Amino acid sequence: MAGTIGVIIGSLRKESFSRKIANFLVENPPVGHTLEIIEIGDLNMYNQDFDEQEAPDSYGPFREKVKSMKAIIFVTPEYNRSVPGVLKNAIDVGSRPYGESVWDGKPALVVSNSISGLSGFGANHHLRQSLVFLNMPTMPQPEVYLPSVQDFFDGNGKLTKSDTGDFLKDVLKSFVAFANR
Ligand SMILES: Cc1cc2nc3c(=O)[nH]c(=O)nc-3n(C[C@H](O)[C@H](O)[C@H](O)COP(=O)(O)O)c2cc1C
Repeated sequence: MAGTIGVIIGSLRKESFSRKIANFLVENPPVGHTLEIIEIGDLNMYNQDFDEQEAPDSYGPFREKVKSMKAIIFVTPEYNRSVPGVLKNAIDVGSRPYGESVWDGKPALVVSNSISGLSGFGANHHLRQSLVFLNMPTMPQPEVYLPSVQDFFDGNGKLTKSDTGDFLKDVLKSFVAFANR
């Protein structure tokens, strides 16, 4: 089944390694698919009062965009052994109002990374915990943990580590097969 796969990045940093990984995925889509980055940096901090009152203008387009996607890929670093707040905020925004979650049933892939050898394991698994609750079937294998990402790119932000590039292309193929099930 063809379709667009949304890519959500857990970092707002200009030179974010997570964004560079996301860009690589977008530039190397699996056959028959398009990948599109869904920006989360302009989403106001979620407040439950918005569910009863008028929500911020940024919420509607984000929710509609997520809803239109066949599946979602999260590319995230780890902040303090968990998911960066900006990503958690996006997850919360998409999950409400109650009963109207735009995440429901969307297949998901988690790609975590870090500048150390730990590969964002804590963020990866805290994110998976939320995805279980959101009813997002999340690809169990292959898991994607990318260590020492600062060594992956050239001066233009292009991935130069060819084994990682090959691995990520294989991951995308596996993810499409998983999402089509
Ligand atoms: C607030 C903060 C907390 C961090 N906590 C962790 C951590 O728990 N584990 C880790 O491996 N790296 C941690 N780091 C380092 C990040 O992995 C590193 O800054 C990385 O480059 C951020 O991802 P980005 O390049 O996509 O912005 C932290 C960085 C910041 C700014």
